[in-house]
Amino acid sequence: MEKIVVKGVKELKGEVDISCAKNSILPIIAATILCPEPIVIENAPKLEDVDVICKLLSELNCDVNISNVNNRLTIDTKNIVEMDANTELMRKMRASFLIMGPMLARFGYCKLSLPGGCNIGSRPIDLHLKGFKLLGAEIIMGHGFVEVKAKKMIGSRIYLDFPSVGATENIMMASVFAEGTTIIENAAEEPEIWDLAQFLNKMGAKVKGAGFGKITIEGITSLKGTSYRPICDRIEAGTFMIAAAITNSKLKINGVNEEHLRPVIEKLKECGVKFSEYINNSVIVDGRSIKKPLDIKTLPYPGFPTDMQAQMMSLLSIVEGVSVITETVFENRFMHVAELQRMGANIKIDGRTAIIEGAPKLTGCEVRATDLRAGAALILGGLVAEGETEISDIYHIDRGYVKIEEKFRKLGAEIYRINV
Ligand code: UD1
Repeated sequence: MEKIVVKGVKELKGEVDISCAKNSILPIIAATILCPEPIVIENAPKLEDVDVICKLLSELNCDVNISNVNNRLTIDTKNIVEMDANTELMRKMRASFLIMGPMLARFGYCKLSLPGGCNIGSRPIDLHLKGFKLLGAEIIMGHGFVEVKAKKMIGSRIYLDFPSVGATENIMMASVFAEGTTIIENAAEEPEIWDLAQFLNKMGAKVKGAGFGKITIEGITSLKGTSYRPICDRIEAGTFMIAAAITNSKLKINGVNEEHLRPVIEKLKECGVKFSEYINNSVIVDGRSIKKPLDIKTLPYPGFPTDMQAQMMSLLSIVEGVSVITETVFENRFMHVAELQRMGANIKIDGRTAIIEGAPKLTGCEVRATDLRAGAALILGGLVAEGETEISDIYHIDRGYVKIEEKFRKLGAEIYRINV
């Protein structure tokens, strides 16, 4: 079993390059199913989740190749034969379910195991299925699987009760070839939705309004092969911003779209962190200041991202005063609290709200990454904790952060991976 060991450091220094966004590349890889010509994706991040979705496509008889030049991923889906993906890979990662929309659009049929993923709430798929049904598909729910069939997909007006990221993406992909016009209302506005639409349009789709809550898709008849480079990972960038803040350091972060990080940057500024020199997608984050406590509520974009909640909690654990974090997106996303408490954090949970009373210090100990972002939060805590922090279950971290310990080591952190 692998573990990450972190020793508390005084200060980090230098610059870090942000990888392409996990939450962009996963739907983009799923969308390659829509097009029977080769697709090239540049700068594919080397992540466990990317590996899982690539393996899934290979199991469906697609040609998937990654070259070391620019981490270029080439996918050719012309030979897809199987339309049942009832595999372990489906259960391993919730985003695997994103292949259902494109399969339905291209073949009018798909049967998948119900998805798995991070253990942060019940994470239903009702909104995905509601969209498919309105586009003309028949839905059959079985024990542990779901089957969708459609003789013909017809454009429709689909209102999402909640702006689900995955449902918006899946419905967008499902409707690319639907006859007429599809309108998705109360659609998710995350930058990754915009990125997927850019990719679809580059293949020849007609998607408008992605990133703005109301998405219009004009049905077309075919798509063409293309190449694409996804946007940078705003959550990875935000994690390094908090690293600067928690260690009282000044860091340069390359690969930042300021707009995508606005909710995180604004909260960090309120806390006392300074940002300067937004040049060529780089930003200098100066965390060498007295920090103030915060009141944060996670919300769909452009609200504060739930994927930054755990990392922010690590920071607030050592900020003098009382901070409050309310999680509104997922019902069970406080599992990192027990781990931070082991390190000396003073946090109380009341329903969906965490009340954090800043402790003078954290202390290193053995902790467990309970999910992906929880793992990142523990690394951040470990960077300032007295002594050594030993993090287990780090496969969660590898799902979404490229070589995280190497990136932190380059900044001067004492962090390494051990095999026990
Ligand atoms: C995506 C991100 C994940 C992020 C989340 C919220 C990817 C691969 N993952 O996950 O990192 O934390 O957005 O920003 O992009 N819901 C329903 N019914 C549905 C679908 C969702 O009730 O059919 C609920 C979920 O239970 C959850 C909320 O909607 O409470 C948000 O989920 P959703 O936006 O769908 O997240 P994901 O797409 O799974």
